[in-house]
Amino acid sequence: QTTQLIDKFNRKVNYLRISVTDRCDFRCVYCMDEQMTFLPRAQLLTLEEIELIGRAFVELGVTKIRITGGEPLVRNNVMQLFDKLGQLTNLKELVLTTNGSHLHTLAQPLKNAGVKRINISLDSLKAERFTQITRVGQLSTVLQGIDTALKVGFERLKLNTVILKNRNEDEIIDLVNFAIDKGIDISFIEEMPLGIIGEHDRAVAYYSSDQIRQVLTSVFSLIPTTETTGGPAKYYRIPNTETRVGFISPHSHNFCESCNRVRLTTEGRLLLCLGQEHSVDLRRVIRANPYDIEPLKQAIINAMEIKPKGHDFDLTRSPVILRYMNMTGG
Ligand code: GTP
Ligand code: 5AD
Ligand code: SF4
Repeated sequence: QTTQLIDKFNRKVNYLRISVTDRCDFRCVYCMDEQMTFLPRAQLLTLEEIELIGRAFVELGVTKIRITGGEPLVRNNVMQLFDKLGQLTNLKELVLTTNGSHLHTLAQPLKNAGVKRINISLDSLKAERFTQITRVGQLSTVLQGIDTALKVGFERLKLNTVILKNRNEDEIIDLVNFAIDKGIDISFIEEMPLGIIGEHDRAVAYYSSDQIRQVLTSVFSLIPTTETTGGPAKYYRIPNTETRVGFISPHSHNFCESCNRVRLTTEGRLLLCLGQEHSVDLRRVIRANPYDIEPLKQAIINAMEIKPKGHDFDLTRSPVILRYMNMTGG
């Protein structure tokens, strides 16, 4: 099945990221401001509307849907959506990005629904520090969630880690050793300037993928591979382990040229790029044509015309994009 979604730079879109809520039970320091206001519930797409949009994308050739948030697992009745999307026969990969706080109860239902892989955010293995970075999260709950997910047995689990200078850079090796012990992957993500966050200077906190790699190569041998999970990470293998170490480097190694994805916000805005505001209001299309998938598909095809070439993140300036990461789940 080849995608009908091709943009004007000839990039093929086969990956949809759906943010099912902007709410989150954590308040990670690089993601949100301490005083966050969330969208009024009346503005959100219903789960049925999200499912219809997912189905439209799959009919157009999308083969991978990732559910994101905020924290996706705090949306009421979200398992109903997983169950429905899991039944789309042409969808090869239904996957999830989560902070892990609800995995100890939801890992098994997620597996039953057909979720193939889960990415779990983890920035520290020190309980106190974990709570400082997430402002409210409990490390033990997340570790319990990881263990439950391991027992349930997904095709692949991956940790997502944001390294911040003078905060958790001393844990780079420990986090990789943790991933090796558990037999899972880990990706390091360069922090992106989305939304203005008081008392957090992203230029000061910036820690590049190359710096992380340098730290790692003092202990591990990292073998570059061309393996991909269909996302932006570039992977290395650590010999004699199950672990791949990924690097997501929007600043130091721009990957926009090979972008294959678009995002749906919880209000039904189809965002064509994480680092730009180009978007199409799919909620309006759905509500003007209830239950009718064809106008929706046409709107999605047309949207490809305005997919921008890439982001222009610049850590040395105040953020240009005022939307916080929790609006798109990254
Ligand atoms: P895999 O399917 O495992 O490859 O996952 P993924 O990397 O596509 O998804 P995940 O939700 O785990 O995202 C990890 C990080 O990559 C997050 O910080 C995202 O914001 C970032 N990311 C994903 N896609 C893009 C993108 O198109 N542009 C930028 N700048 N960042 C992205
Ligand atoms: N820059 C980079 N990554 C971020 N995340 C949240 N906010 C940012 C940001 N500003 C990460 C989370 C999660 C992933 C989906 O995105 O830690 O692992
Ligand atoms: Fe919540 Fe994820 Fe943002 Fe942390 S990064 S506050 S877990 S949405």
